[in-house]
Amino acid sequence: MPTYTNADVSHRKSISYRFKEFIDSLKQNGVGLTTKKIFRRFYYYIIGVDFSLQNLHDLNIVGDHAKNATALVSTSKDFLFELFEILQSEAGEEFKKERFVDIGSGKGAAIIFAKEFGFKRSLGVEFAKELHEIAQKNIKKLAINGVVSINKDATEYFPPRDTTVIFLFNPFDRTVMRKVVKNILKAKESFIDSCYLIYVNPTASKELDEVFEIVTKKEFKNGAKVLFYKL
Ligand SMILES: C[S@@+](CC[C@H](N)C(=O)[O-])C[C@H]1O[C@@H](n2cnc3c(N)ncnc32)[C@H](O)[C@@H]1O
Repeated sequence: MPTYTNADVSHRKSISYRFKEFIDSLKQNGVGLTTKKIFRRFYYYIIGVDFSLQNLHDLNIVGDHAKNATALVSTSKDFLFELFEILQSEAGEEFKKERFVDIGSGKGAAIIFAKEFGFKRSLGVEFAKELHEIAQKNIKKLAINGVVSINKDATEYFPPRDTTVIFLFNPFDRTVMRKVVKNILKAKESFIDSCYLIYVNPTASKELDEVFEIVTKKEFKNGAKVLFYKL
């Protein structure tokens, strides 16, 4: 049974939703951070970087798992940095900024921000051709080295040996998660360093709980829930 399949995010583009988002941000983050976020969005708009929301319905998708996926929602930079800081404080020196791997990477927001946080290399796997192409454009526009987006179904992907953090932002349901976990377990045999996994808004955590160790769980004011695992 799919858990959160093909969510429709169209309503989140409406003016009323954005106004509510603005008020919520003011309440949660205060004027300073909200202003910073608005300026950042404006800067991206000016230089042509696109991290906007998108439904998957009309996109060209490689593989057979379109029905198991959620919509595209891009991670915000401040939120991702907060997650890294939590992991850093839990894992200490075992938290290594070698390679960040985002499985279901959309328009490349998380892989770009991870590089900005200090990861040496950053890689995203995205099965929708159009989103992968936007990610490539975003990387080019921001002139960032060491960030790669690949157009592939997550079930066909094995993270490389230097992976130190795997990121999942509620990309798919249990059916796909089961296969992805199998691939991660196989790939892990050749990992050089210790590796952690961050799972935002989990809908298929059972598959991970069975094989990986939970490091910590967090709930955020904006309603996001996050699980941190050690592989
Ligand atoms: C909620 S978005 C998160 C995007 C990105 N990780 C971020 O944080 O900005 C989930 C993404 O996973 C992708 N996705 C879903 N199922 C996938 C699969 N089987 N293989 C590869 N990508 C997938 C979707 O197309 C979507 O772009």
